[in-house]
Amino acid sequence: MSEAKSVYAALTESPFLNRPATRFLRWRNEWCFGIHVLDNDHRAMAELLDRIAVGFGEEAVNARGSESPSELQHWLRVLGDQARMHFAREEALMRTVDYPDLFEHRREHAMLLAEYTAMVRDIVARQTDHLEQQDLEALKHWFLGHLLYMDKRLAGYLNEAGIQSVH
Ligand SMILES: [Fe+2]
Repeated sequence: MSEAKSVYAALTESPFLNRPATRFLRWRNEWCFGIHVLDNDHRAMAELLDRIAVGFGEEAVNARGSESPSELQHWLRVLGDQARMHFAREEALMRTVDYPDLFEHRREHAMLLAEYTAMVRDIVARQTDHLEQQDLEALKHWFLGHLLYMDKRLAGYLNEAGIQSVH
């Protein structure tokens, strides 16, 4: 089972993250840049972020009743692990094609991981069982800010070089 599929399987099995009627982050086709490995990872991350946002938003948690903060913390760790693995894959791809902005892009990945760690540390310190609206907005900005700028630029380079996939 692929890594993305096993995350989906875990998501579907989790009673906390059943597919809700409302969505926080709906995937848009314009976020697909034509590079399969990137697009697949980004889509899986958006899906996970969406489910966490909706599943652990104040409303959903209130409806379920108070619960242990550890469930939220678990899913935030899963998202962090997904991001770390995705960045590593992207960096390997950039090295393979001698991407000229590898250094800058890698530096931004490191900053994003540090930012994410700080966000999670803050949530854990609050000992909360749910995410506030400002947490959700910060997570969305964290995810989309990089995708729509650095990753779009990388995909543009790969597309121009005629590289849609690297094995
Ligand atoms: Fe990236």
